[in-house]
Parts: sequence; C-alpha cells; structure tokens
Amino acid sequence: MLKTFYIETFGCQMNVHDSEKVAGTLLRFGYQPVDNVEEADLVFYNTCSIREKAAQKVFSRLGQFRKARAEGKIFGVLGCVAQQEGEKIFEAVPHVNLVVGSASYNRLPELLAQLERGGRRLTGLSLDTDQTFETEFTRRENPFRAYITIIEGCDKHCAYCVVPFTRGPERSRTSRSVIEETRRLAGDGYTEIQLLGQNVNSYRDPSPSRVSFAELLTRVAEVPGIRRVRFTTSHPRDFCREIVAVLDSRPVLCNHVHLPVQSGSTRVLAAMRRRYTRAEYLDLVARIRAAIPNVTLSTDMIVGFPGETAADFEETLSLVEAVQYHSMFSFKYSARPNTLASRRMADDVSEPEKTARILRLQALQRGIQTRLHEHALGTTVDVLVDAASRRRSGEISGRTTGNTVVNFPPPPLAQGRRPAEWIGSIVPVTIRRAGPNSVWGEAAGASGGSTAAS
Ligand code: 5AD
Ligand code: SF4
Repeated sequence: MLKTFYIETFGCQMNVHDSEKVAGTLLRFGYQPVDNVEEADLVFYNTCSIREKAAQKVFSRLGQFRKARAEGKIFGVLGCVAQQEGEKIFEAVPHVNLVVGSASYNRLPELLAQLERGGRRLTGLSLDTDQTFETEFTRRENPFRAYITIIEGCDKHCAYCVVPFTRGPERSRTSRSVIEETRRLAGDGYTEIQLLGQNVNSYRDPSPSRVSFAELLTRVAEVPGIRRVRFTTSHPRDFCREIVAVLDSRPVLCNHVHLPVQSGSTRVLAAMRRRYTRAEYLDLVARIRAAIPNVTLSTDMIVGFPGETAADFEETLSLVEAVQYHSMFSFKYSARPNTLASRRMADDVSEPEKTARILRLQALQRGIQTRLHEHALGTTVDVLVDAASRRRSGEISGRTTGNTVVNFPPPPLAQGRRPAEWIGSIVPVTIRRAGPNSVWGEAAGASGGSTAAS
C-alpha cells in the first residue's frame, strides 16, 4: 500500500493553492508528505501551461525520473498541462499513471481509491463542470497568510490565453462557504487572506443572494482577527466603481491592486480581445488613484504579440511611464494551443526582437521601481512580517499594505527572539535604503513594544 507523497508545483498562486488542497486530500487518505521524489511513493506534478516554457518543465522533470518507475513509484500529472495534453501524456511518458486536469480535482478521492486498488492510467479530464474544488482538508504552507479560492475558470477568452481551455468556464463559490472558511482561518490564527481567481472581479455568488465581489470583500474584511485582505487577479474591464468605493472604505483591504494591462496600444489590445482601450485603462487608473490615497498598482505585460509594431511597443513604454507601477510581470508572447491567436495570427515578431523589447521594458520598470522606493525613504510603514530575510541572516522580511517588500533587523529589545518568531506580527518600520525590488529599514522606535503579535 502507498504511504508517502511529494508534490512539486509550477505556475500561479491558484496552482499553489490547488496543491495545498490536493496535499490536504492526500493526508486525509493516510499519505505522509516527504521532501523529495526519492522517498515518495506517490509523486505529483501540478503543472502550468500559460507559456510554452512553463509547460515544458514537467516533461523535463518526468524525464529525470524514468528509472524511478522500477522502484514502484506512482507518477501523476495534475493541472493545466494535464488538461491540455490529456491521455497523450501516457504515450509520451509511460511511467505516468494519473492525469488530472484542474477542473477535476473533486474526483481525486475516487481516483486515489482506484490507484490503491491497482488501477493504472487513470484520468480526470472533464471541463464540463459547475463545481469548484472545495475541501476541508487544505494543508496550508504558510501559518499566517491563507489563500482562498473564490472563483475558478475564466470566460474572457483573451486571444493569447490558454486558461479558458485548461481551467474551464467561470464558476464562483458561495459567499457563505468563503466566509465560513475565513472565520475558521481567523480562529486558527491566520491574519492575512488572499482571495484568488483568474478574474475575481466577475465573482457572483451562485446562491440566491447573488453577492457581488465588492460585497464579498466587505464581508471578508469584517471577519474578526483578519488584518489584511488581498485579491488577485483583476480584469480592468470588470473593475467597477463599487469595488473602488469598497477598497477606499476598509483599512483591512490592502492598498494594492494588481491590474494586468498586457499592452499600451489600443490596436494591440483590440487584437488581444481585452475589451478596453488604452484611454479607458488610464481612466480607471486615475479613478482608483483619486479614490484610494497611496494605492500601489502592479501589472502583467506581454511583448511581441502578433502584429505588435515598434510604434505599438513605444505605446507600451509610454503607458508604463504614465502609470508608474510598483511592480510588473513581463512576458514574451508565446503561442498556446487552441487560442484564437495561435489559430488565426502569425507569431510574426522575431525572437531577438521580443528579447530586445522585453529588456527595454524591464530596464524602464526597474528605474521606476527604484524611484518609487526612494520616495518612501524616511517614511514609517506598517510591515506584516512574513519570513526570515532572504538577503541577510538575522533579519526579517515582510510587506506593506501596498505590497512593498521590506527587510529589517528585528527590534533591539526583542533580540533574543528568533527571526521566525516575528512572523505574523505587524511592525512599524522606517525606511532607510531603497533598491529596485525591496527596501531596507529599521523598526520605528525600536523598543519592541510597538509590535502587535497575533
Ligand atoms: N504568452 C505570453 N504571456 C502570456 N500570458 C498569458 N498567456 C500568455 C501567452 N500566450 C501572461 C499574461 C497573463 C499572465 C498570467 O501571463 O500577461 O496576465
Ligand atoms: Fe486569460 Fe484573459 Fe482569462 Fe486572464 S482574463 S485568465 S488573460 S483569458
């Protein structure tokens, strides 16, 4: 009988959280987690296919462990590559025994039971579902920040995007179950909630109350013990006035909006089927900024979309200059199976040109981030500590409400306290040094008495 498991996760926060739920399900079935493939009886790869490079990773991982099959391990491919490639994976990699797409995790208990009875080459690949993946047995990685999925799938069908084909149509969870989960997590000591979905703005409670995303945010923010609420990802088209108003009215709701724009050119946006223009996006940014003082914005950007000219790309640069994002994820366009762009549009920007464009974009963004961080020098900000610093041992690291990463030494009076013991505390920190990706500071007052452990 199988006993131990190992999961490796690729891709977005949705995937990270799906893996937490899968791990919880496995624990419930009596499996024990281990830290490496060698010790595991059951090896799961939770895959991402948003870009070609991400999709290739799982095949290179599976290739590394061909021999392991002889040791009696079971390999499973989960997530978006599983959905996209389906049973072809069995042909390509014969030692895989389970292929489960992200819309079929509800079937995991049943599939695990079949595996234990000796079943092989099992699949869960239906996209035809109105269900979300809910389980009480989530095994969360972080002891104070919890992800909660509120909506799965996407109906937007942006021309480049594979998500509607791998995660299926949009379906929302009931607000009741979201609030119950938040209350349970607050009771367990979690202080930060991150609401997840491919497009959280189009959340709509499926029960008769028809609670909207803005109402859901309000209710989550009201749960006692919850000190910060974040959400991702937003689609500019669905980011309505009601959401802007709610963000302004509740301090628990973080002053940060991830608002993927993808391009600064209205022509390219139309080809991408994003359903907003450059001017409409900039107008939304202005409204958010007017309503929420000190709000920070981040974005996703694609360079080299089919037909993107040098002039279009200049518009992307000028939009970035105009908006002044606090952070950005930028990607070179890659054609993905089934998408409108891959079927109808030639991938006609050359690879060297895509590289040249992304380097220019990233250099511009790096300068903007450094300047924004320099503006914060001397100010004091509340930092929710979330880790020991990755940069210097003995230091701790956390985030502001605007999502800026702050590293600092623990306050002096508490210096017998190990860095890990600060995790979950909110500490006021005065910013002393600024870099492009993070800032460094000192605990304000540095008396240790101003911290609020939770
Ligand atoms: N090529 C490049 N980037 C893509 N993204 C989504 N699909 C593609 C693609 N085919 C990017 C978008 C999206 C982010 C998660 O990944 O910027 O917001
Ligand atoms: Fe993909 Fe567009 Fe849906 Fe985002 S909104 S998941 S980019 S189809």
